[in-house]
Amino acid sequence: MRVELVKTSGFCFGVRRAVRMVEEVLRRADGPVYTLGPLIHNPQMVAYMEKRGAKVVGLQEGLPPGVVVLRSHGVAPQVKEALVAQGHRVLDATCPFVRNAQMYARSLWEEGYKVVIVGKRGHEEVEGILGYTEGNAEVIWEPKEVMSLGELNRVGIVAQTTTPFEIFSLVVRELLRRARHLKVYNTICDSTVKRQEETVALARRADVMIVVGGRNSANTTRLVEMCCELGRPTYHIETARELRREWVEGACLVGVSAGASTPDWIVQEVLENLNLWSEGGK
Ligand code: F3S
Repeated sequence: MRVELVKTSGFCFGVRRAVRMVEEVLRRADGPVYTLGPLIHNPQMVAYMEKRGAKVVGLQEGLPPGVVVLRSHGVAPQVKEALVAQGHRVLDATCPFVRNAQMYARSLWEEGYKVVIVGKRGHEEVEGILGYTEGNAEVIWEPKEVMSLGELNRVGIVAQTTTPFEIFSLVVRELLRRARHLKVYNTICDSTVKRQEETVALARRADVMIVVGGRNSANTTRLVEMCCELGRPTYHIETARELRREWVEGACLVGVSAGASTPDWIVQEVLENLNLWSEGGK
C-alpha cells in the first residue's frame, strides 16, 4: 500500500500567519490574550492554544482588558471599534486576501455602486466584508438570486475568498445581463482552488481518500464532498485516533488531504499511522 499526501494540504498562508501572530503575542504579552471566536476551525488547535493561554471570547462586556486577536476571516470595522472602546488592544490577523475583499467592497460602496458579495450569508468572513459597506451590500450565492435584486444600474462585485470560481463567474454572467455598468473584483483566493484541484486529482487515482480537518471546517467538508462526488470511498477524520485499518485494507493507493485549518502535526500523525500499516506494523 502506498500513501500519498496532497502537497497543498494543511494551513494556508492566512491561517499560518494568524497562528504565528497568536504564538508571538503569547510569548510577549504580560496580560490576558484573547481570540475573538475560535482562531481557526480546528478544535484540536483551538484547545492547544487555550492551554497556552489564548482564551476564546465573544464580544462580551466586562472582560479584563487585554490583547484581542482577530482571526483570518476578519471582522466588520464596527467590531474592532467596540473592542477598542472596551479598552482592549486589537491585533488584526485578518488574512491580506480577505482584507483586499473588505477594501474593494468599501471603495465600491463609497463610489456609489450597488455592492454584491458572492458568498455564503452568515459566514464570518462575509459578515465582516458586509460591515465595510455598513450593511449596504447584497449577499448572493446562486445566480438565480440576481433576479431578486431589483433595478440594477451600477453594480460592483467582490467574492468571499473561498467561493468556487464557477459560482462566481455564473453570478457575474447573470449580472452582466442585467446591469448597465459592472465593476468586478475577483477576490477569490487560489489557495483553496489549488488544494481542491490537487485533492480531486489524487482522488481520481486513489482507492481510498482520508481527509483530515475539523468537522466545523467548511473547506475540509468541501474536500470530502468533492472526493465523494467522484465515487471514491472517503473518510473525514479530525485526528489519527479515528483512523480504522479496515478502511485501507486491500488498497494500493491511499490519498490524504487536509483542510486549510488543519495543523501539520495532526497530518503527520495520520501519515505515520498509515505508513506503519503499509509496512505491515500494528
Ligand atoms: Fe487567506 Fe486564502 Fe487562507 S483567503 S485565510 S490564504 S484560504
